[in-house]
Amino acid sequence: MWIIDCDPNSPDYWKQVRSLAFSLVEGEKNLVANLANLSSLFYHSLPQLNWAGFYLWEEADQELVLGPFQGKPACLRINPQRGVCGAAYRLQQTQRVEDVHAFPGHIACDSASRSELVVPLMKAAKCVGVLDLDSPEIARFSAEDEKQLTALMQDLMVHLKF
Ligand code: SME
Repeated sequence: MWIIDCDPNSPDYWKQVRSLAFSLVEGEKNLVANLANLSSLFYHSLPQLNWAGFYLWEEADQELVLGPFQGKPACLRINPQRGVCGAAYRLQQTQRVEDVHAFPGHIACDSASRSELVVPLMKAAKCVGVLDLDSPEIARFSAEDEKQLTALMQDLMVHLKF
């Protein structure tokens, strides 16, 4: 079963999230299928999320384009100069925003979102997309969440065929 059976504060929590994430992608080479399952895993394993998904870099258009996700329909395209996703893409660094209303240029796809974590997806020193997690709670994401999700996505990139 694809469920986490421990409390998010338990020392085993991230171990379980990592183990499920690797089981989902190992053995499958289709990128859309893998990102779809990862977005579902994050959406259902991390408490208090209203959106979890991916934006993928489109070289021809020089924009981030909506990829597999869970949550309400969202903006299709994000200019790299805009939003939390654009900042993660440009700076190639995870963005942890405690209050999105205080983030200049934040793009409100779902007005319920109050905090956000965006992890750049790096392949051979190039950003090829981002993982975007939104929460209706202010300051939902901790420094530990940032560290764990950044490391997890970096490790998963070996299995993801961009
Ligand atoms: N809030 C994001 C846009 C994507 S949606 O939240 C799904 C941003 O500011 O980049």
